[in-house]
Amino acid sequence: MCGIMGYIGRHDAVPIIYEGLRRLEYRGYDSAGIAVYRPGEKASLGLVKRQGRLAELIDHLEDFSGSTLGIGHTRWATHGVPSDRNAHPHCDCSGRIAVVHNGIIENYAQLRKQLILEGHDFVSETDTEVLTHLIEKYYHNSLEAAVRQTLAVVRGSFALAAIHQNEPDKIVVAKNASPLVIGLGEGENYVASDIPAILEHTRKVYILDDNEFAVVTADEVIITDFIGDPVDKEVFDVTWDLVAAEKGGYEHFMLKEIHEQPEAIRATLRGTAVDGRVDFSYLGMDELFQKTGKIFIVACGTAYHAGLVGRLAIEKLARIPVETDIASEFRYRDIIWHPDDLMIVISQSGETADTKAALQEARRQGIKVLAVTNVVGSAIAREADQVIYTHAGPEIAVASTKAYTTQLLVMYLLALYLAEVRGTMNRAELEGLYSELLYIDTLVDQVLAEEAKIKQLAQKYAHVQSTFFLGRGFDYAVAMEGALKLKEVSYIHAEAYAAGELKHGPLALIESGVPVMALITQDHLVDKTMSNLREVKARGAVVVAICKSNLQEACEECDEQILLPDINPLLAPIVGVIPLQIFAYYMAVMRCLDVDKPRNLAKSVTVE
Ligand code: F6R
Repeated sequence: MCGIMGYIGRHDAVPIIYEGLRRLEYRGYDSAGIAVYRPGEKASLGLVKRQGRLAELIDHLEDFSGSTLGIGHTRWATHGVPSDRNAHPHCDCSGRIAVVHNGIIENYAQLRKQLILEGHDFVSETDTEVLTHLIEKYYHNSLEAAVRQTLAVVRGSFALAAIHQNEPDKIVVAKNASPLVIGLGEGENYVASDIPAILEHTRKVYILDDNEFAVVTADEVIITDFIGDPVDKEVFDVTWDLVAAEKGGYEHFMLKEIHEQPEAIRATLRGTAVDGRVDFSYLGMDELFQKTGKIFIVACGTAYHAGLVGRLAIEKLARIPVETDIASEFRYRDIIWHPDDLMIVISQSGETADTKAALQEARRQGIKVLAVTNVVGSAIAREADQVIYTHAGPEIAVASTKAYTTQLLVMYLLALYLAEVRGTMNRAELEGLYSELLYIDTLVDQVLAEEAKIKQLAQKYAHVQSTFFLGRGFDYAVAMEGALKLKEVSYIHAEAYAAGELKHGPLALIESGVPVMALITQDHLVDKTMSNLREVKARGAVVVAICKSNLQEACEECDEQILLPDINPLLAPIVGVIPLQIFAYYMAVMRCLDVDKPRNLAKSVTVE
């Protein structure tokens, strides 16, 4: 996720901004930049931005000493590859305005086109640059007024900070759906995307809410809404230490990222629809989508589990045969290719060696590859024919959580789009399912509210040696992900099985006290799953049902129940996995393990 740091006061701005950005490095970034106001007879804005690490800026910042106003940014690419030009801050045509921005401007393409027609020169591929040119367009001696007018025409998510050479006494900031805080000092003030950036200087902050706007000077902070009506805000006293602040007050990144899922889902959904229906026509693959006879989904680990859900969704909605395979297996198989096949690779990091090798093999065979990844400019994003990005933001914990749910979301969106292109669903069905996806973030929130109950369960079972995760259909795919989560962070043996397959062997392992986590979200399969659960209960297992609330009665024989909202069974994996992530997390915490960095595992697996 991108980081913002700004300063206005009486001290040298550059070291303060640089240090603030350094405090945000842990969040991951691919480029960085700083813009400052340089006073003097020929006052101007000074700007340095580079692809790569923050340290790349150091040699170029000397000229900026004495500046007491500036803004800086660390960028995690979303529109446009990581490069010097795409790094923030961005300037207008005259070089008098500089802007840093986190989030996504959804209508940037249309605004950019219009601004180019009006004579503005764009130098980057970013959505952010439209902000600078809009502010330039609306500027008539008031930065505040120009930013307000800009906000009236942009759609999307943003935390932004803007400065203007002609008004060196202020930073103008605004927030919608991306975090922004203002740190309060004595004769100096700070703006930042996250508290750790400013904690060294102050513990008194305003945490802006959506649709809030502020003019920050050295001595004053005036907060209003976008229109200009005053907002009464309380100063928040930060009591966390720096390490806790980096984790947003959570004990571990894994828990923070579990809680970030509603926002990650919203960010991934943004801009995916036109007229209430998914639109991936920009990929330029419609012809292939129409005629393909087979889709191969290839990935590793958690991403592979998202691919399993993808297969079920695409087969159900678009009626295209799909094969999902583990990349390290797929690459050595003797695949029977057909020229109209389509390969979908899924990878959070976009760097996984086996997934990349499978992609390369498909391309050698002349097969088109569509990548689903979280990292713009990653190897897989570069080598695939087309890319759909998840917008989960950087995942720091080794165990994947928010990347997985956003991968699931993309799988559903793709299945819907394929269904439209293939004519297997009518308009009302397409719009209906898309609108269900639009409020799935609120259902995830509801499940997150069950955290305390799930923590108690973990307390009860933290001592066990072995567990089972059972389900049928979509629930089986989620069971596989739940078992993987538990083993990787808690080191407890966890085996996922298709509920109907148990009696063909693994039932022999069930003994008294073994916890069995049962996913029960598929209305039409509930009776079948329940008979399998009776088999394990009869052998002494303790059954924990993760069931939809409308199926509660059918599951009452289970020993424990975690209730999920009554969601369309097709979409249930997105909410069904949440209790399993929380359970795995607390099992690891109860066992005093290094949750964010489990033994023997790496976040990005770039070797075979
Ligand atoms: C598990 C996990 C891994 C990754 C796998 C693929 O929590 O994170 O199983 O899913 O290593 O990584 P990516 O998605 O980066 O290709």
